[in-house]
Amino acid sequence: MNEQALSVREAIITRRSIKNFNGQPIEPEIIPEIIEDAIWAPNHGNRNPWRLIVAADEQYEQLLDVLKEFGVANWKQLSDEDLEKQMKKFTSASAAVFVIVPEDARQKERLEDYAAASILIQNIQLLAWDKGVGTCWKTPGFLDNPKFRDRLGVKPGERIISMLQFGHFDGAPKAAPRKPVDEIITYFGDSEEDSAE
Ligand SMILES: Cc1cc2nc3c(=O)[nH]c(=O)nc-3n(C[C@H](O)[C@H](O)[C@H](O)COP(=O)(O)O)c2cc1C
Repeated sequence: MNEQALSVREAIITRRSIKNFNGQPIEPEIIPEIIEDAIWAPNHGNRNPWRLIVAADEQYEQLLDVLKEFGVANWKQLSDEDLEKQMKKFTSASAAVFVIVPEDARQKERLEDYAAASILIQNIQLLAWDKGVGTCWKTPGFLDNPKFRDRLGVKPGERIISMLQFGHFDGAPKAAPRKPVDEIITYFGDSEEDSAE
């Protein structure tokens, strides 16, 4: 395992979403270890508005059958070769974690819960990055498919907000530039006229 021990700043600015994994297996214990630390995410009322379904190792192999059914269009009609190609987006990763939030009927609580679970996900991504493991937050349409939800054991009143993929990778992708700070910040009290000067 790669023990990088990045500073918080380094982890935040160097982390990239990994979309091309190299298929090298990750140690499955790494996932609960990361989650153990990631759950210190802030969350209103300490509701801990999340649960996670982890598929690593043999369970990831089993999950691949489900992902084939829901994540590859017309998979039954494809040649073995084409199916293998289409499955690369899943088979090159080594594990997946589904992050599930309660769908509170109250809008404020629902938004807070989604926000808190998103922070949990970013914590997971940063902690994995620090260990040299890549992740990508994926939101394929099938996450809301009732049949897929059934296969995962997701209950009414719950929503899968992320299929977080894990795996090793060869080289980080180039960062997509962010909007510069002076375009996204205005200072309280600055009027339109002041900023035009
Ligand atoms: C809520 C959310 C949903 C995302 N869904 C997908 C997705 O379905 N497929 C994908 O390839 N990347 C997805 N991403 C990853 C983004 O594409 C990625 O964060 C973005 O390109 C910026 O790259 P970086 O994370 O390397 O800085 C998602 C990210 C977030 C925060």
